[in-house]
Amino acid sequence: MIPDALADQLRAQAVPFSLPEPVSVSARVLRHETVSQTYRRLVLEAPAIAERAQSGQFVMVTVPGAERVLLPRPMAIHRRRVDDGTIELIYGQVGRGTRILSQAEAGSSLLATGPLGRGYSIPDGPGPILLMGRGIGICAFMTVAEDARTRAIPAVAVLSARTAQRVIGESDAAELGVQAIAVHDANGSSEIAAVEQLLEGRFDTLPPRAIFVCGSSRLALLARRLGDRWGSMVQVSLEAHMACGLGYCHGCAAPMRSDPASEGPLVCVDGPVFDLRGALK
Ligand SMILES: Cc1cc2nc3c(=O)[nH]c(=O)nc-3n(C[C@H](O)[C@H](O)[C@H](O)COP(=O)(O)OP(=O)(O)OC[C@H]3O[C@@H](n4cnc5c(N)ncnc54)[C@H](O)[C@@H]3O)c2cc1C
Ligand code: FES
Repeated sequence: MIPDALADQLRAQAVPFSLPEPVSVSARVLRHETVSQTYRRLVLEAPAIAERAQSGQFVMVTVPGAERVLLPRPMAIHRRRVDDGTIELIYGQVGRGTRILSQAEAGSSLLATGPLGRGYSIPDGPGPILLMGRGIGICAFMTVAEDARTRAIPAVAVLSARTAQRVIGESDAAELGVQAIAVHDANGSSEIAAVEQLLEGRFDTLPPRAIFVCGSSRLALLARRLGDRWGSMVQVSLEAHMACGLGYCHGCAAPMRSDPASEGPLVCVDGPVFDLRGALK
């Protein structure tokens, strides 16, 4: 359910985007490894998806094996490496699908359809970019950092989690030249007021041209507030239960508390990335 405070913002147009044609491929599992106590990383050979994928897009992955799981599961494309022809996914084991997925062996193949959805786009203009994510949501925006590096745009990332061990993305940030600020609940550094104060101090003199956020509605609201303060574009990636990922089933329509009679945007095709503030002021 989308918080009331975000509902009106979601009426805004999705981020303008020219969508690449998705493909369905049998992707070989090149690596499948534990990232932390909580997460696993899948590196898939999928050159056709890697070369098409734009930042913030996702794939629908069919769970393999005899224990039949009918619907594919949506997963953000955490990294894409066109030269290697690979995409990287990081996932947490939450239910039956991801439990079975965790047994996929290197050398086996998974059916993956993508890239899907409307992703993030870095606007032209002055200033760095700011990434803000929590938990597994961080996987939605590391491809933005890839694009920022290609365009020589400085990037700062707030990586939030319950504990220091659960913070995702520090090694990616280091590889991509992103200044990472890891915060977590265990020491209180992830408190919204603390993050707000830290970012105001960091960006008030040179505001970011855009803020990219995923994984926490509290961070999304903070991003909105900071975007208003700085005049920065704010793009948020949402999650929803998805059956098809293609715009057919309408199962992912974002329910709008402020207007329950009308169907909200479809997270899979109108999003998952939405513009929270409209065009850059
Ligand atoms: C665009 C998009 C990108 C995503 N990217 C990632 C990713 O990079 N890594 C990752 O780990 N997960 C990601 N997810 C969430 C992931 O798809 C679900 O965790 C997964 O489908 C759960 O499948 P399951 O069969 O294990 O769990 P299920 O048995 O289907 O559900 C188990 C529990 O997880 C909850 N759940 C299931 N799907 C979602 C969802 N979409 N959002 C919130 N809660 C859910 C259920 O309510 C239930 O409590 C993404 C979701 C979307 C929509
Ligand atoms: S998941 Fe089917 S319409 Fe979005």
